[in-house]
Amino acid sequence: MTITCINDLQRLAKRRVPKMFYDYADSGSWTESTYRANEADFAAIGLRQRVMVDMDNRTLRTKMLGEEVAMPVAIAPTGLTGMQHADGEMLAARAASDFGIPFTLSTMSICSIEDVASVSSRPFWFQLYVMRDKDYIGRLIDRAKAAECSALVLTADLQIIGQRHKDLINGLSVPPRPTVATVLDLATKWRWCAGMLKTKRHTFGNIAGHVKDAGNLSSLSKWTASQFDPSLSWDDIKWIKDRWGGKLIIKGIMEPEDAELAVQAGADAVIVSNHGGRQLDGAASSISALPDILAAVGDRTEVHMDGGIRSGQDVLKAVAMGAQGVYLGRAFLYGLGAMGEKGVTKSLEIIHKELDTTLALCGLRDIHDVDTRILRPGTYPLASSQSGAEAARESRRRVPHDPLGTTS
Ligand code: GLV
Repeated sequence: MTITCINDLQRLAKRRVPKMFYDYADSGSWTESTYRANEADFAAIGLRQRVMVDMDNRTLRTKMLGEEVAMPVAIAPTGLTGMQHADGEMLAARAASDFGIPFTLSTMSICSIEDVASVSSRPFWFQLYVMRDKDYIGRLIDRAKAAECSALVLTADLQIIGQRHKDLINGLSVPPRPTVATVLDLATKWRWCAGMLKTKRHTFGNIAGHVKDAGNLSSLSKWTASQFDPSLSWDDIKWIKDRWGGKLIIKGIMEPEDAELAVQAGADAVIVSNHGGRQLDGAASSISALPDILAAVGDRTEVHMDGGIRSGQDVLKAVAMGAQGVYLGRAFLYGLGAMGEKGVTKSLEIIHKELDTTLALCGLRDIHDVDTRILRPGTYPLASSQSGAEAARESRRRVPHDPLGTTS
């Protein structure tokens, strides 16, 4: 099968990954309207074709949180990644570090912090879920420090979990319980089974053995669900920051008020995110929330985003609107499920190539020159404070586009 785009990897992952784990990745909460909006709102943004400009010597290299990146993209923290493919987090971390972008490890990973540290040649980022057991969370932060993680990504939008219908219907469990449906499904997923037989990593590596009374594997997942701290608040940031002592990213910011609170709490970056449409169904798409967050705090902190990125064009659109970096969740998971480490590399190559080609066809050579002038006026979301007249004036100013400064 010739792989041309992320959708091809998605189709292959659907054939190779057990249904309950493929569905876990490819799902949103309730009606999935926010999940769909994340992609649809990117698709609605148009680009301006420019011609006859020198397109030689292009570069996508930039920085996220002060770290050099091969493109303004990081791997998002995704739960149960080691269930898409055996040792999934280790494979994805290695692919990301070889590619030159940050990998973010989820608290709810199958491979542990230490497993990932043993294979990654660049410091990775660690995503933290805060649970009721603060001793355990303190030790988890210490482990991330010991592994020399270079940023802590605090997820702020999952104190309780959004209801995902596919997971309920599939009876999602880690590892899968041997029901008739699961056994019949696994019988068609021999690659996945062979990988799982070869690895010892079948449970939540950051939790198993680190928590008293963790119980067996599937009760561990129930234990985890009951352990997320529903009382997490801005007041908790101080002790987390003190214990961590390094760079802090707060993920799940969708409203300017929360962005302001995140900055006051000392965030080095915020991620505009609705958790891939998996938490509050009915929340805005991430890309449509981005302008208001930038208007509120963009001059004081880095603003990143995730949600709906399925191509390099989506990356370019987010950067044009002002994001300093974006995160790939499903786009790398599909590569992982389809072809393991090679598949993650393939997904990064696809995104890089699409980003590079689109940059050139918009008439630019350097990712740092990208702004809203490459977007078709009227097709992209504006900050709510921007009135219609102001927006119209701004779009008139944008024509003609002069990316290389040859006429000014
Ligand atoms: C948790 O990370 C989830 O979205 O399932």
